[in-house]
Amino acid sequence: MQNFDYHNPTHIVFGQGRIADLGKLVPADAKVLILVGGSSAEKTGTLAEVRQALGARSHATFSGIEPNPSFETSMQAVQQVKDGHFDFLLAVGGGSVIDAVKFIAAAALFEGSDAWSILQKHGSNITQALPFGTVLTLPATGSEMNSGGVITRRSIGAKLAFGSPHCYPVFSVLDPTKTYTLPPKQLANGVVDAFVHTIEQYLTYPVNAPLQDRFAEGILQTLIEIGPRLLADAEPNYDDRANLVWAATLALNGLIGAGVPQDWSTHMVGHELTALHGIDHARTLAIVLPSMLHERRAQKQAKLLQYGERVWGITSGTADERVDEAIARTRAFFESMGIPTRLGAYDLGADAIAAVVKQLEAHGMTRLGEQREVTLEVSRRVLEGAL
Ligand code: NZQ
Ligand code: ZN
Repeated sequence: MQNFDYHNPTHIVFGQGRIADLGKLVPADAKVLILVGGSSAEKTGTLAEVRQALGARSHATFSGIEPNPSFETSMQAVQQVKDGHFDFLLAVGGGSVIDAVKFIAAAALFEGSDAWSILQKHGSNITQALPFGTVLTLPATGSEMNSGGVITRRSIGAKLAFGSPHCYPVFSVLDPTKTYTLPPKQLANGVVDAFVHTIEQYLTYPVNAPLQDRFAEGILQTLIEIGPRLLADAEPNYDDRANLVWAATLALNGLIGAGVPQDWSTHMVGHELTALHGIDHARTLAIVLPSMLHERRAQKQAKLLQYGERVWGITSGTADERVDEAIARTRAFFESMGIPTRLGAYDLGADAIAAVVKQLEAHGMTRLGEQREVTLEVSRRVLEGAL
């Protein structure tokens, strides 16, 4: 096992009806800015529930954080925070709202002249952030219990990740019933995003960390078990929703990644597809991952065989046949969740690949992966393999 630090300070408040706990969780004298996305928090009644739970506290709302949140909109919120002297932020939404609030919390106290440098330096220049909590409405990213975020600057088509120990939520309210209003497409996205987060930290090379491996395999098996039911059920099932929420949180709260190598190349290539073509985050992962695994099957062979056997029950055939089968089962799982895994299904052909590779180069993504072997040439082949 590799050396690691693990410190996750986020207080998780889990279960039906827990939004009422905001009354205890938010400091009584806080001046609160609630931040939401488009219209879902208002339409579903969650925003009203949050406001009620805040009681007599002074609060206002910033709405309009878009999916794949933009730097431009986030900076408008920073202005409102500064002008209104808000001292506590409350994100109500999915990964996009939570990521934006992390950035806004840091940018509001940033002492440099240009907050974009936070993204350019991937958060290493963050020295403080306003305290914030979250009310999660879409299980997928794990942002509710980690310190990272992804912000897009629309004017230059750049989608960049940042992270800082100052950007953990103080608390996150995880009420599984808040997922009941999600359309099937977002449920499927959530399952696939959590699945790929797990794969990025598990499917690398062995470092004798059997506990982390089994945590990861448990998350993958849980998602495989509940994923199809989430789509098939006529009425939402509380237990399946609760298990989805907790699986997605644990997939990216640092636990399964402690002490093991991590890949993240599928995410980095996927971010460029979102920035250039607006494809949902999880869908970009479903496009890239099967081809990425195929391309790097030699370096990843030991873990691919373990994954095939323990997650998919593949026990016969040559090593090559088992690897093929494991990748095929992964692709079929994404497809069974209604998520196409080929670029063509998103109206992209071979002529789209050069621009993606160019953006990877512009963003310094030239040696990705747990062994730094994913050069621009490898990324190009991965994209060609996804046609
Ligand atoms: O904007 P509103 O109207 O709120 O609608 C949202 C949005 O259109 C809707 N929605 C959310 N909760 C709902 C709901 N609709 C009905 N009922 C509800 N309960 O869902 C749509 C998508 O929301 P979004 O927050 O964009 O989705 P997601 O949670 O998948 O977040 C995606 C973003 O997170 C980043 C992605 O890159 C992307 O920008 N990621 C963040 C990570 C992190 N912080 O650790 C890791 C991930 O790998 C990922 O990169
Ligand atoms: Zn993701």
